[in-house]
Amino acid sequence: GSLPTILDPNTEVALREAARIIRDTDDTVAFPTETVYGLGGSSLNDDSVLNIYKAKNRPSDNPLISHISSIDQLNRKIYGDTNLHPSELLKHIPKSYHNLINTLWPGPLTILLPVPPHDTNTLSKLTTADQPTFAVRIPSNPVARALIALSDTPIAAPSANASTRPSPTLASHVYHDLQGKIPLILDGGACKVGVESTVVDGLCSPPLLLRPGGFTYEDIRYVGGEFWANCKVESTKSVKADEKVRTPGMKYKHYAPSAKVVLLLPSDDKDKEKKLELFKQLFSKEIHDNPGVQKIAILTTKYLDNIKDSELENYKNCDLIIKTLGHDGEEIQANLFAELRQVDETDKVDLIFVEGIPEEEEGLAVMNRLRKAAANNCIAF
Ligand code: TXA
Ligand code: MG
Repeated sequence: GSLPTILDPNTEVALREAARIIRDTDDTVAFPTETVYGLGGSSLNDDSVLNIYKAKNRPSDNPLISHISSIDQLNRKIYGDTNLHPSELLKHIPKSYHNLINTLWPGPLTILLPVPPHDTNTLSKLTTADQPTFAVRIPSNPVARALIALSDTPIAAPSANASTRPSPTLASHVYHDLQGKIPLILDGGACKVGVESTVVDGLCSPPLLLRPGGFTYEDIRYVGGEFWANCKVESTKSVKADEKVRTPGMKYKHYAPSAKVVLLLPSDDKDKEKKLELFKQLFSKEIHDNPGVQKIAILTTKYLDNIKDSELENYKNCDLIIKTLGHDGEEIQANLFAELRQVDETDKVDLIFVEGIPEEEEGLAVMNRLRKAAANNCIAF
């Protein structure tokens, strides 16, 4: 295919062109959201949805999130309810979600709704991949919302990476993965949140956190009211490849750089000197066990922050890149995918050490992504 056009979305021409593609064609557009870049096509059109799966090389049993710009649009475009009285605005959304959406939409929260009854359903079946539910969110990024509103079309959009790769937080990441496969990228700069939306299921009791994301588990429990105070975190640890799961996306290889990733899991020991000693041992052992390694990145958070390459034995034959991911959860979350891609795709290292963080607040989403990136290479630290 030909290379994608890259447009600045802060012009009316660009937004109108992107909206036209979504509304009137079977093609796709990559666009920024507050979480990560999405690869969008009409949720109402089978061919658009097929083109999304194709461009990403995504397995067809992994359903897509529909992005809407307002609840009015959800009512009109997905349920065909055009003349609802304002008091009926939330008619199609179960009560269990009302506290959450009133506070957290627009923003990085995705909820599951029952697929509309057959005779009123306008959603492409391919967006839901045979699930009894569909996923929906209102993004807060102004470019995303303008695009959805202008096309007046619910937009099916997975993250705009090639399947298995880290999600894109810059237009250049999208270009890297999908050039030749999509016609247009709206370059809205860096995504602020940096990890995907939080996916919740409030159709069951207790409700479930299916994917930790831009809003924390603590946010959901706090904002959601009594029902959500009991929210359980869906465990995805022991899912087999052929198993039917609630969040199909969780079973696939994901967020994986080409380089080997070794994730350091924070332990209770908080002694900085001991940690440094331990890291030197781990570092030497990895190099010893992987003789082909020439270039190594160390992505630090807390304890390894000031580590010097001169402190590491055995490094002499290797190139070493030491970088911090950030000093608080939000910063680490915002930098995570971009730093993984930088050391992997640009610096082309062979081995990446990542210093993990405790799995609370933003740490839950960060470590969820890092555990997948590292596959089974996790070491207590
Ligand atoms: O922040 C985000 O959510 C980004 C931006 C572009 O909005 N999108 C995104 O989409 O992350 P994607 O397709 O990469 O991830 C959607 C996740 C997958 O794990 C998928 O399995 C799950 O949501 N999902 C979608 N529909 C579902 C459903 N009906 N039931 C359970 N899980 C669902
Ligand atoms: Mg994704």
